[in-house]
Amino acid sequence: MRPFDVDEFQQLLRTKWLGRHFVYMEHVGSTNDVAKQIAIEGAPNGALVLAEAQSAGRGRFGRSWFSPKLTGIYASFIVRPPFLPKELLILTIATAVGVCEGLHESTSLPVMVKWVNDLVLGGKKVGGILTEARASQSGVEFAIVGIGINVNTEAEHFPSELRCVATSLKEFSGKQFRRERLLASMLAHLERVYEALLSNGFEKLRERYCQLHFAQGKLVEVTTGSGKLVGVVKGLDGRGALMLQLKGGVETAIISGTVRLLE
Ligand code: BTN
Repeated sequence: MRPFDVDEFQQLLRTKWLGRHFVYMEHVGSTNDVAKQIAIEGAPNGALVLAEAQSAGRGRFGRSWFSPKLTGIYASFIVRPPFLPKELLILTIATAVGVCEGLHESTSLPVMVKWVNDLVLGGKKVGGILTEARASQSGVEFAIVGIGINVNTEAEHFPSELRCVATSLKEFSGKQFRRERLLASMLAHLERVYEALLSNGFEKLRERYCQLHFAQGKLVEVTTGSGKLVGVVKGLDGRGALMLQLKGGVETAIISGTVRLLE
């Protein structure tokens, strides 16, 4: 496996602000922690940290994120959005759409999103997003958006407990991908999606997310902090919550949970 070629990436990068301040590291605990530290020290909007490996990569709900050396993209960027803390869900949704569209452009593979922060390929998880923020009641000072993509990981290198639920672009397609190209594409799409969100609002983004959602219109089980719910996915509400139609027709909005397809 080749190390990430920073020069090549910078030549491919076509953004105005996202990823223009770029920090490359061989090994970190978590890129989200490094990005947070540099945000506190005043790094600009759009600053991005990329590592070749993480020893303490993390996902939502305190799960760990498998981050082997050289085979994945482990990246976190800083944004200072004019959002309230409760609107951060929309930032995760915007990131999922941008990442998904960037992967379509650079791989032509049928990557989809799974509410709220998962990227799936062939029904298995190929990537995830972790949004963390420093915020008060009055607003978000900065958000750190972490992106993990399993790129060239061989199936047999996943830990046994992940093998039936996780995949990589390489495992699915049999092809090796250049991480420089993938990251440059993802950032271009992310920047466009964020700018559209800030100027036009959530409506168009919500429609796009539902088009890319692999569970749209399907029967799912959602595990929430207060138990499991079964229903058909109807879409997202104006906050980005998952709209689920329960047996009997009642619709409910879920703000946090893990979706599992039942059909
Ligand atoms: C999830 O699926 O629950 C989110 C996974 C997010 C993983 C990425 S890898 C880069 C960044 N650093 C971390 O520690 N986590 C995110």
